[in-house]
Amino acid sequence: MTRKFIFHHDGVHYYRLSVYRMRMNVQSVYTYLVDDVLIDTGQRHNRENIYNLVHDKNISKILLTHHHEDHSGNVAFLMRKKQVKGYAHPKCSEILSVGYSTSALAKILNGSVDRAFLDNLYETDIVETEHHRLEPIYTPGHSEDHYCYFERKKGWLFSGDIFVAEKIKYFAPYESLFQQIDSIKKLLQLDFDVLFCSHNPKLEDGKQRLKNKLQFFEDFSGEVEKYYRQGHNSRQIFALMGGKENYYYKVLTLGNFTAENMVRSVVKELKKAGS
Ligand SMILES: [Fe+2]
Repeated sequence: MTRKFIFHHDGVHYYRLSVYRMRMNVQSVYTYLVDDVLIDTGQRHNRENIYNLVHDKNISKILLTHHHEDHSGNVAFLMRKKQVKGYAHPKCSEILSVGYSTSALAKILNGSVDRAFLDNLYETDIVETEHHRLEPIYTPGHSEDHYCYFERKKGWLFSGDIFVAEKIKYFAPYESLFQQIDSIKKLLQLDFDVLFCSHNPKLEDGKQRLKNKLQFFEDFSGEVEKYYRQGHNSRQIFALMGGKENYYYKVLTLGNFTAENMVRSVVKELKKAGS
């Protein structure tokens, strides 16, 4: 069963695309329509819903924040249906052009991702709409192809998956905590208040919320580093920090999305730095 919700804020239309399994909401993602530019496209399992929402809208281009299936699941379909081009970070274009194979479980939860041929968008390329200018800000760490889109005049940040929440507990194995710290520091140089986040929009205090997330990451990595320097490995550090797994997530993601991965990410990079 799938449901949809429609929201508006200061001229931006946005849509919540949720996937339910056994009456549980297993995934909600937001897509944003800024004048005639659509940011992200939702999961494959919400194809009918996103199409119903945008089929009569004037769309001139689609931007992706990154290649993950809950953002890119309908990009090829919508490009074809609306006869428009899609744009993303070059790495995202590359991934989607060769085909991005989601895990068996992700296929069940969100659906698969079709190959898509996007145009490369560079940080120097500003996307102009009728009323707005969207600046791509390269923000790796959650994924290597991640862009946020910044609307300077309005102080809006379309933040993809860089925020999600002030405190997070779980990481996928490919995520880098230190890179996310660098990306958040880069974003904090900008003047914004609204976080048009892909999973958890915050219409005020966005910058403070992102500062809080930075503080959380710095405290977390500092504690991991303290134990690492005492000679402990990731598993021991996780236990020393009182870490607890959510076994539902762990089983559901075949061990991919775990709390211990946050510790592992820090330890891996400390080792790499030779410290
Ligand atoms: Fe993501």
